[in-house]
Amino acid sequence: MRRAAVFLALLLCLLWTGAQALEAKMSSSEKEVEELQRENTDLLARVTASENKSTALEARLSSSEKEVEELQRENADRPQVAFSTGLTDAGSVGPFKTDITLKFSKVFTNIGQAYSPTTGIFTAPVRGVYYFRINAWEDSGQTWTGVELFHNDQRKMRFNDYNDGGGYVSASNVILLQLEKGDVVYIVLIGNYSIYDDSYNRTIFSGFLLYAL
Ligand SMILES: *[C@@H]1O[C@H](CO)[C@@H](O)[C@H](O)[C@H]1NC(C)=O
Ligand SMILES: *[C@@H]1O[C@H](CO)[C@@H](O)[C@H](O)[C@H]1NC(C)=O
Ligand SMILES: *[C@@H]1O[C@H](CO)[C@@H](O)[C@H](O)[C@H]1NC(C)=O
Repeated sequence: MRRAAVFLALLLCLLWTGAQALEAKMSSSEKEVEELQRENTDLLARVTASENKSTALEARLSSSEKEVEELQRENADRPQVAFSTGLTDAGSVGPFKTDITLKFSKVFTNIGQAYSPTTGIFTAPVRGVYYFRINAWEDSGQTWTGVELFHNDQRKMRFNDYNDGGGYVSASNVILLQLEKGDVVYIVLIGNYSIYDDSYNRTIFSGFLLYAL
């Protein structure tokens, strides 16, 4: 009877110790779980923040791409006008009794085809500011050279020089003009004056659209 009681007490003691150990283990496990949950929440927040950031970046990228496309379209729509032409390979032109429109027949550049080598006339394809440059060369001796630049039927520029026979003369001038769409610009050889060009491309008429308005 007494031995049974002692055995029981021992057993209880063992059980209690086991329970204590289990409880300690349990509580440490719970702490670990809490810790992991905290870490998890942390990670989740960081992932969400990253995702938000990359969504914002994607939005900015797509808006930049749209802007680039827009600019490319604008650039493609922008009229491109530039020409440069030499007068002739045939030597002297003139003198004639009256003023004549010069036909610069050697086309070096004619972007936009606004200059016609058959008429010598440049026609503005758009409203804008245009740059024109013309020079005159004279090689015949004892003669005047000189040209005039016309905007529609209005003379806008004239220059000339006299060759006293000692060699050649050369003169040039530049003008910027605001043109309406369809306006014309051309070069006139002054009556009784002559001008010269050959395969050295000495006499050149050039122009380009500086910017549209
Ligand atoms: C992420 O974006 C959502 C919705 O736009 C917002 O509610 C949340 O607060 C953002 N989270 C972070 C971490 O920025
Ligand atoms: C050219 O010279 C002639 C003779 O001197 C003159 O009669 C004529 O008016 C001149 N032409 C021009 C366009 O100046
Ligand atoms: C004049 O222009 C023609 C055609 O572009 C070119 O072949 C030639 O070499 C040029 N002459 C000179 C002297 O540059």
